[in-house]
Amino acid sequence: MIGVLEGRLAIVTGGARGIGREIAVTFARAGAELAIADILPEDLEGISREVEGLGQRVLAEKVDVSRSGEVSDFVSRVADEFGRIDVLVNNAAYIHYAGFLDFEEAEWDKVMDVSLKGYFLCGQAAARQMVNAGKGTIINIASIAGEVGVPMGAAYCTAKGGVISLTKLMATELAAHRIRVNAIAPGVVDTENVRRVVGDDGMKIRESLVPLGRLGTTVDIAKTALFLASDDAEFISGHIMHVDGGFMATAVR
Ligand SMILES: NC(=O)c1ccc[n+]([C@@H]2O[C@H](COP(=O)([O-])OP(=O)(O)OC[C@H]3O[C@@H](n4cnc5c(N)ncnc54)[C@H](O)[C@@H]3O)[C@@H](O)[C@H]2O)c1
Repeated sequence: MIGVLEGRLAIVTGGARGIGREIAVTFARAGAELAIADILPEDLEGISREVEGLGQRVLAEKVDVSRSGEVSDFVSRVADEFGRIDVLVNNAAYIHYAGFLDFEEAEWDKVMDVSLKGYFLCGQAAARQMVNAGKGTIINIASIAGEVGVPMGAAYCTAKGGVISLTKLMATELAAHRIRVNAIAPGVVDTENVRRVVGDDGMKIRESLVPLGRLGTTVDIAKTALFLASDDAEFISGHIMHVDGGFMATAVR
């Protein structure tokens, strides 16, 4: 069977671990070639081997998405090597938790640089290539934290709110070039990183708040990204898709 992304090239930022890694593997299974940007060299080697094992070409490089020079060099290399960029998944994020009254400026700046400016830089560089091709699609991984307050998340919530606004702006401006831009807003997803930060008890509390009765999985998010990247979503742009087990629809828990 031919995969829905057969012959496409997808960039996934933060694709060495967690949700980004699952998206990269899911896209490769669907026939895509991959370009992965992350700051973790060892994990980049791991995901490269996995994608190659699925029979797909992959370029995996150490790139800090908050640095414009690194981003533009990477995107140019991808375009040179593969000849096209069909899909960008903006996923890399930096999170720092602290109370609003104690939040430090340096941490605020780092969260904004990676988790909001990084989306702008990668989005702009990839979209410039897509404009030349006259098509493309961009998926920004936002969060429900961009729409509701999550304690200790002053900078993270603000960055994710910015990602949601940026998604709508990009969808508006880029539609003329037949570039679709959507966001996925996950609820709590059971990743190593989140479990380390909130602990097993914290995960249980979060799970109890989800109407559908379980935490999200990386697969839930990857399947949604695959749908939005595919031609099945050809008339969907500017959409913020909650993948949260009904959390955002429910006022009383
Ligand atoms: N896990 C959740 O519960 C959850 C919920 C909502 C939204 N999200 C969003 O999903 C995305 C992925 O989250 P995750 O839980 O898989 O996180 P994760 O920490 O497991 O993975 C993030 C990846 O981004 C990479 N990264 C960090 N800074 C980078 C930089 N400057 N340049 C390039 N790469 C960088 C990391 O090395 C890592 O591989 C993020 O945008 C996050 O905000 C996650």
